[in-house]
Amino acid sequence: MERRKFLQGTAAIAGSAFLTAPGSMTPAGAKGREDGFLVLEARPGEAKLRGVDKLPTKIWSYQGMSPGPEIRVKQDELVKVRLVNKLPQPTTIHWHGLRSDNAMDGVPGLTQKPVPPGASFDYVFRAPDAGTFWYHSHERTWEQVARGLYGALIVEEKTSPGFDRDLLMVIDDWRLDNDGQIHEESLGHMGEMSHGGRLGNWPTVNGQYRPAYTVGKNERLRLRLVNCCNARTLNLILGNWKASVIAIDGQPATHIGATRKLITLASAQRVDLDINVEGSPGETVFLDEVSQDFPVPLTSLNIAEGEAKLPHRREPINLPPNPLPDALPLDNVERYEMVMEGGAMGGMRNATYKGENMDIRQLVGAGQVWAFNGQVGMTEKPLFDVKKGQTVIVDLINRTAWPHPMHMHGHHFKVVRRNDKPVNDAPWRDTELVRRNEKVSIAFVADNPGKWALHCHILSHAASGMFTWFNVSA
Ligand code: C2O
Ligand code: CU
Repeated sequence: MERRKFLQGTAAIAGSAFLTAPGSMTPAGAKGREDGFLVLEARPGEAKLRGVDKLPTKIWSYQGMSPGPEIRVKQDELVKVRLVNKLPQPTTIHWHGLRSDNAMDGVPGLTQKPVPPGASFDYVFRAPDAGTFWYHSHERTWEQVARGLYGALIVEEKTSPGFDRDLLMVIDDWRLDNDGQIHEESLGHMGEMSHGGRLGNWPTVNGQYRPAYTVGKNERLRLRLVNCCNARTLNLILGNWKASVIAIDGQPATHIGATRKLITLASAQRVDLDINVEGSPGETVFLDEVSQDFPVPLTSLNIAEGEAKLPHRREPINLPPNPLPDALPLDNVERYEMVMEGGAMGGMRNATYKGENMDIRQLVGAGQVWAFNGQVGMTEKPLFDVKKGQTVIVDLINRTAWPHPMHMHGHHFKVVRRNDKPVNDAPWRDTELVRRNEKVSIAFVADNPGKWALHCHILSHAASGMFTWFNVSA
């Protein structure tokens, strides 16, 4: 009861009177198929982000919707997606977290040419790891992802782990203006670029404002959470439910344990939770985001009579391992440093941009405010060049005043040291939040040949300097 009153309070703050908005997705998005390809048409569309009874928001979409169609494949299955560009800009698709073929990684200027308006590109790759992944545009991401060009990619285990229900929540925070349209002035805004990035003001789950879901009493629930926000690190609380983390960034994770508390998901990160649905039919549990002064409810889970197949268990379900080594070979390691500099209150004086040394005034003039090792954005030479199979440690050293979710393409890594103290049992990740003044040492086996991007996943940071690459030679 109290909870309901509180909710109405926050709904009023957000300028809206309703609590749930079922079915706000534009229904135009039937999945197209062509020569065995799933067709993803990148095109302008409309979404009822604010609710069914409100004017829709003009977005950029895949197949008319945001999130785009959920792509579900089996582990090791061949994925065939045809991107058809009906946008007014070039675009590509990147398969975030997939340790797949470099030529299919979707990074314009590094692994492929951007796909111009009117053209198409066929992505064909295998998904080696079962887990929760996502896809998004990798061209002008700070604009294209902000306008809605992303979706979930679920790779199913070869044998079902046996949950009663598999629920996916793709979370975004849109920045809408007073008319409920994409806030244009803040796209590429220098002030936000040099601070924490472009934060949204309108949270959605699966493209809907505060949708309601039904779960069955005593059910064993697999909840997959994906943070698609441009910049926001989500701090999530799921009522007082006990949730066990069973996968992180698409990789099974044990030793993490159960929590009734905060789940922190930086931009681009994912988590899979194993939940025993606690409570009686008629009760409702809320997923709240608590990074601001007051909790913002994102969605509600209504408990109904259920027919749980599994007995209530205390032990979390162990997902089958993906083909990653249990332990990293740390005897013959190459070590590289990545010093992150710049941004507001960072005191960066100068850096090299496109081969030219520039002072901060010139850099700001060029729309660039961040640097890795004194280099702004893409360089001709990679940050490092290693042979296939080499174990690599990268020391991510944050000398800025801001946290940065650092994302490595084509590989998963483990944090092995934080501020020079050893970290044991870290999960495999593809995106790690490096907080201000932190030094985070990540280790991985460079087993995937090609040119791989390494960048901050605050998308306006990536566009203003925090973007580099490394090379793995065959
Ligand atoms: Cu999710 Cu290089 O991106
Ligand atoms: Cu950043």
